[in-house]
Amino acid sequence: MPEPLTIAVSKGRILEEALPLLARAGIVPREDPARSRRLVLETSRADVRLLVIRAADVPTYVRHGAAELGIAGRDVLMEQGSEGLYEPLDLGIARCRMMVAGRPDAPAPQRRLRVATKYVNVTRRHYAAKGEQVELIKLYGSMELAPLVGLADRIVDLVDTGRTLAANGLVPLEHIADVSSRLVVNRAAMKVRHREVRALVADLEAAVAASGAPVAEGAAHG
Ligand code: ATP
Ligand code: PRP
Repeated sequence: MPEPLTIAVSKGRILEEALPLLARAGIVPREDPARSRRLVLETSRADVRLLVIRAADVPTYVRHGAAELGIAGRDVLMEQGSEGLYEPLDLGIARCRMMVAGRPDAPAPQRRLRVATKYVNVTRRHYAAKGEQVELIKLYGSMELAPLVGLADRIVDLVDTGRTLAANGLVPLEHIADVSSRLVVNRAAMKVRHREVRALVADLEAAVAASGAPVAEGAAHG
């Protein structure tokens, strides 16, 4: 029996939305991931296991080959880059938009704009493309608070329903990117375990097609 293929996935929103897709590909965790404290989950397919890790850590595990495959938000891939990774499939889950937001009434400051975000690389590129010099403030979450208490003039964050922005008196100002979760594959594994990896990607592709979500990309990056 060859080593199982390992898929790295983050607990919470992505895993919740990925489970029905995985199930359609015949992959069902042997324990309930919401309850289990295990970080390695065996599945109903002896050839596939799951690693449950933080969303921002998925590309790292896959890049280093600790997992052959992973499920990562496009936001995380844009921020960290896709070096060492193939991105063969848009899973069409955890859809949202990356946006600049701020207070609707705030006058333009007489200094550089302060922008708070956990996506500092994406934000730097966004303002550089506009030719604007801004001061970046790195945060790890709850970005919507920053403009309310004078920490920042703007935030760059994910927006889905818009409820979090509205609840904090903020409005979306600029669209940066549409976000959904992508299947990523370690480049070396794609060569060395080509047949197994291609078969699993095909199973997931069929699962996405059956779910009615668009199958996009098809291209390799990195
Ligand atoms: P952690 O909990 O590890 O700190 P996180 O807060 O980024 O990470 P989640 O909130 O589960 O974890 O987000 C994981 C991914 O889900 C994000 O990288 C993004 O791709 C997607 N996502 C985040 N917020 C939303 C949202 N409101 N609607 C849809 N998708 C979202
Ligand atoms: C995400 C994101 C926004 C919110 C947007 O946060 O960082 O705060 O969702 O969704 P909405 O437009 O539907 O309100 P999340 O709920 O994941 O909380 P966390 O990242 O702070 O844990």
